[in-house]
Amino acid sequence: MNKQTRIKTLRERKAQSRLGGGQERIEAQHKKGRLTARERIDLLLDKGSFREVDSFVVHRTKDFGLDQQVFPGDSVVTGWGTIEGRLVYVFSQDFTVLGGSLGEVHAEKICKIMDMAMKNGAPVIGLNDSGGARIQEGVVSLAGYADIFLKNTLASGVIPQISAIMGPCAGGAVYSPALTDFIFMVRGSSYMFVTGPDVVKTVTHEEVSFEDLGGASIHSEKSGVCHVAADSEADTLYLIRKLLGYLPQNNMEDPPFVDGSDDPLRMEDSLNTLIPDDPGKPYDMKDVIRAVVDNGQFFEIHENFAPNIVVGFARLGGHSVGIVANQPAVLAGVLDIDASEKGARFVRVCDAFNIPIVTFEDVPGFLPGTVQEHGGIIRSGAKLLYAYCEATVPKLTVITRKAYGGAYDVMSSKHIRGDYNAAWPSAELAVMGPDGAVNIVFRKELEKAKDPVKRKAELVAEYREKFANPYIAAQRGYLDDVIEPKETRPRLINALEMLSNKRDANPAKKHGNIPL
Ligand code: HXC
Repeated sequence: MNKQTRIKTLRERKAQSRLGGGQERIEAQHKKGRLTARERIDLLLDKGSFREVDSFVVHRTKDFGLDQQVFPGDSVVTGWGTIEGRLVYVFSQDFTVLGGSLGEVHAEKICKIMDMAMKNGAPVIGLNDSGGARIQEGVVSLAGYADIFLKNTLASGVIPQISAIMGPCAGGAVYSPALTDFIFMVRGSSYMFVTGPDVVKTVTHEEVSFEDLGGASIHSEKSGVCHVAADSEADTLYLIRKLLGYLPQNNMEDPPFVDGSDDPLRMEDSLNTLIPDDPGKPYDMKDVIRAVVDNGQFFEIHENFAPNIVVGFARLGGHSVGIVANQPAVLAGVLDIDASEKGARFVRVCDAFNIPIVTFEDVPGFLPGTVQEHGGIIRSGAKLLYAYCEATVPKLTVITRKAYGGAYDVMSSKHIRGDYNAAWPSAELAVMGPDGAVNIVFRKELEKAKDPVKRKAELVAEYREKFANPYIAAQRGYLDDVIEPKETRPRLINALEMLSNKRDANPAKKHGNIPL
């Protein structure tokens, strides 16, 4: 074979690999409104930056006719490239090849990429579109998944791992993403379930659609499995690029600094009048967040899951921060099971990746009742408490209004290593709200009172006068300062810069025992 022929052969082999499962299956994928594995990579990465590896790899299985279905590269495309010039590793499952199912070599390709990412300290992004373990390869496929699960777990907290669900994903194809830091889904065309509707019908006799079993709405609103749901594949990939801008390459680095040209000393007059005079009236905490952060840009995580707490990324004076905020506009911002778990998970992500945490607090406490108690609010609330206590990144807290009960302690209070704790003059720090407190403390007096309604109103007013302000806490140093709302942005940026060399550590241990 001469040189020209060899080069021609190479080109033909590469072209064949690029075709995946063939033109017909590519068209079928497009007809379902979905992109191919390679088209997705092209949208995700900086133009022309993708370098593929293992495009010649083929499976070794002869059973069930698989010897007649051999596709160079098998059912996953792997390699590296850049996003905004920063290195990332990528695997993109190819549904046109055996339904993107995962057999031995598919798993080996993903593991290779993950090993490289760990050695070189860069994020891994998985674009998932897979029927799960390749049935024809039996236990070998299960072994392949287990290898990936182990690598996901060992990489957790070392490099960012991001999963996008781009098609129907079942079995192992959902458990690997579930071990990663963030899961993105595409509305209307991506699904996650342990077993699909057919198996559900056989086992439980339930008739359920793909969408109702594991669509993006279910997972982004109800189960909380999905962190970000987008309207199209292109939007999903764009949002992954955006998210990466807030994260460091690995746990030994700081997140990138991006000067957004928003004045760090900017005052926001609207905040001075934002809090309603009536403490029972809601307001939107997202207005506070947007008014304070650089250019009003807030990348929300878990937007529609447990909306009574708001979490997400933003920049303050160019520094990446994680925001955790009670949302008085939903359930008065109360902490329930879902909100506690959502907050705890986010706090841990920030702490793992050196991202300072800014907490905006207006919380009436934990949600009472049998549903919550029987559902384990004690365990879930403890997760949030544990996560905040354990976090050693800079922790900044602004109490805008209510800081009641255990929730005062939990939400990054001074006592659990808050670094800069400030309150607005509208802050109310107390064991509970005035109504509940008066009912308990003055029950006997109210029973005997001639006019219990009038007497209660007096006692509530007295209680409010005494406790519903920030000054008792400030006198004790539990608050570092009481600030005018409009100066929140410059104060936070100043505190962030003051804390830029913060060193703090937890005692040496194998690992803690967060109440899972
Ligand atoms: C081998 C598979 C496959 C699999 C799909 N295919 N899943 N081949 N192993 N797991 C093949 C199909 O045979 C078909 O091939 C092609 O991929 C496209 O699949 P369709 O069913 O035609 O597509 P669609 O209707 O879109 O349905 C997609 C699907 C469904 C929902 C993913 O295929 C499905 O339910 N697959 C099985 C899911 C599952 O239960 N997997 C095992 C999970 S156990 P042809 O040649 O006909 O086009 C698991 C254990 C891991 O993963 C450990 C967990 C802890």
